[in-house]
Amino acid sequence: MKRVLSGIQPSGDLHLGNYFGMMSRMISYQEKNDLFCFIVNYHALTTVHEKDLLEKNTFQAAIDFFALGLNPDKSTFWVQSDVPQVCESTWLLSNIVNVGLLGRATSYKDKLSKGISANVGLYSYPLLMASDILLFGGELVPVGKDQKQHLEMTRDIALRFNQTFGETFVVPEPDIDSSFELVPGVDGQKMSKSYNNTIPIFGDEKFIKKRFMSIVTDSAEIDEPKDINSPIFQLYSLFLNKNEKKELEARFQQPGLRYGDLKNELFECYWEHFRSFRDERQRLMDNKDYVLNSLRKGAQKASEVADQFLANARSAMGLNYRN
Ligand code: ADP
Ligand code: TRP
Repeated sequence: MKRVLSGIQPSGDLHLGNYFGMMSRMISYQEKNDLFCFIVNYHALTTVHEKDLLEKNTFQAAIDFFALGLNPDKSTFWVQSDVPQVCESTWLLSNIVNVGLLGRATSYKDKLSKGISANVGLYSYPLLMASDILLFGGELVPVGKDQKQHLEMTRDIALRFNQTFGETFVVPEPDIDSSFELVPGVDGQKMSKSYNNTIPIFGDEKFIKKRFMSIVTDSAEIDEPKDINSPIFQLYSLFLNKNEKKELEARFQQPGLRYGDLKNELFECYWEHFRSFRDERQRLMDNKDYVLNSLRKGAQKASEVADQFLANARSAMGLNYRN
C-alpha cells in the first residue's frame, strides 16, 4: 500500500482545474492506498493577508473535499497549520538548498512577471512544499502539470539530504496524468485562482452560469466547423467518456453549431455532474462539528508521523547534542 500525498491551497474558491487536476484523483486513491491529504494554509499566507478570508477559505476547502467524497475514516486529512512541525523541517531543509534553485522556480518567476511583489514566503514556497512531502513520507504525489518542477526540487532535496546526513527521507514520485492537459479557464489560459478566470465547483447557480457564458470563443460563423482546441471543447471533454468525446468532435466539424447553445449545454452537464455533491455539501454545512472533529483527528494522525521523521532528521543533522 503506497502513501499517496498531496495538498491544496485555500486561496480562493476551489475550481474545475483543482477538481480534475487533483481533488478527484486524490479521492479515488483513498480506496487502495494510504492517503494523506491536507489544506495548505501556510502556503496561502504567501498571498492571502486577510484573516477572515483565510479562515473562511480554509474551512470551505475542507468541506469541499469531504463533500466530493473524501472519507476521513479511509484517509488522513488535515489542515497544514495544525501540524506546525512542517515549519521546523522547512528550516532544516533550507540549509541544504542553494538560493539559485529557489530563484529558478517557475511559479515564483511567473508571479514576479505578473507584477505580484515577492515576499520571502513566496520565494521559499518550494521549500515548505518539500517539507510537506518529506515530513510525512509521501511516496506518490498526485498534482497537475504545473507542479512538476516543485516535485523535481523535492526529489533533489531528499536525495541531497540523504547523501549529506544519511538515509532519512523517502524520495517521492510525482503522479501527473499525462493524458490530461491543464484545465483552461474562461479566458483560455490555465484556470487558476490567481487569474480570475475560474469556474468554481460549488457556488451560486446564476453566477456560475454567467461564467460559462463568458468562455472565450473564436469568430467562426454558425455554418463553419469549430475548433476542437478551443477552451469550450476542452472544458466539455472533462465531463465526457471516450465515445461521447468523439461524438462532440464530430459535432464540432459539422456546420450548424452555435457557441451560445453549446455553452448552455455544457453548463447543464456541469450542474448535473455536481448535483449530489452539492447536496452533501449542504448537509456538511449543517454539521460543522463533524467536519471540525474529523480535521482534529486527521491532524493527530499526521502529527505522529511528522514527529517520527522530524526526530530522525534532527538527530541526523546533529541537533541532539545531549546524546
Ligand atoms: P491555483 O492555480 O488555482 O491557485 P493551486 O495552485 O492551489 O491552484 O493548485 C491545486 C492543485 O490543483 C494542484 O495539484 C494543481 O496542479 C491543480 N490545478 C490547479 N489548476 C489546475 C488546472 N488549471 N488544471 C489542472 N490542474 C490544476
Ligand atoms: N504547491 C501546491 C499547489 O499549489 C500545493 C502544495 C503544497 C502541495 N504542499 C504540497 C502539493 C505538497 C503536493 C504536495 O498546488
